[in-house]
Amino acid sequence: MPAAPKRAVLITGAASGIGAATARLFAKHGWFVGIADIDAGAATALATELGKEAATPITLDVRDDADWARAVAAFGQTSGGRLDALINNAGQLTAGPIEHTPADKLRAMVDINLTGAILGVQACLPLLKATPGARIVNVASITGLRALPEASVYSATKYALRGLSEALRDELAPDGVAVSTVYPAFTATAMMDAERGGVDDRLLQRLEAGGLKLYAPESIAKAIWKAVERRHDEAGAGGLGRGMRFLATTSPPLLKLLWWRRRRGH
Ligand code: NAI
Repeated sequence: MPAAPKRAVLITGAASGIGAATARLFAKHGWFVGIADIDAGAATALATELGKEAATPITLDVRDDADWARAVAAFGQTSGGRLDALINNAGQLTAGPIEHTPADKLRAMVDINLTGAILGVQACLPLLKATPGARIVNVASITGLRALPEASVYSATKYALRGLSEALRDELAPDGVAVSTVYPAFTATAMMDAERGGVDDRLLQRLEAGGLKLYAPESIAKAIWKAVERRHDEAGAGGLGRGMRFLATTSPPLLKLLWWRRRRGH
């Protein structure tokens, strides 16, 4: 009997942080993983580490629809025409007061975090619709449940992903494509490193005063994995993410109060 075809997942921003941990986890569970990232060198290095039976690198800028068309065509060739999951994970954070943040940085957050996910859905839909049980996962953030001052535009993109998921869940259900939103808590990746990422010392100090805990990317990857395997519409990731999603659903005023106190380090 021929072996069942591997399930296939395409993960954006998969060359580092949460995306890389997610790619490793799906590969470990026997999926074929498209490691899509603007950083071609890092995507190739991870694909090589996982092996060509398990992964393929895809160089793309999620903001570019021509890149998406090329990437999906190439991925479809290697995956045997199936796409069981698209994980829109690529993201960027530039923190700071809105009036001091350059317009190009603000625009990049909207373009990468939101438009990139929209273009990904558009480009991947033919493969997703052709694959029974397919799912889109949009990686939002706890700042998409309670917005964070001095990360206002970042938070707005994460709220927008929640709305995108909600609408697409109903729109795509007749086509058999499900949609999840995952809300990770703060995670130890380049993004949350003042030297390498877009978070600055002031914001980190403010979050630390409120008891900031950075979760491991592997624990966020596990939540993304579960959202796919257990077909969850929404999931918090990391203890704080799970707690905040629960309160956002059951008691928004309590979440508002606790978030306000935590931000101020009470
Ligand atoms: P990261 O900075 O470690 O990784 C982001 C990846 O996205 C990088 O590999 C980067 O090359 C890639 N990327 C950036 N722009 C791109 C573009 N235009 N096209 C294709 N790839 C691009 O960040 P991290 O922390 O792993 O973030 C992953 C996702 O998780 C993001 O959507 C982020 O907003 C979200 N998130 C992160 C949290 C954290 O505390 N680190 C908390 C909540 C959500």
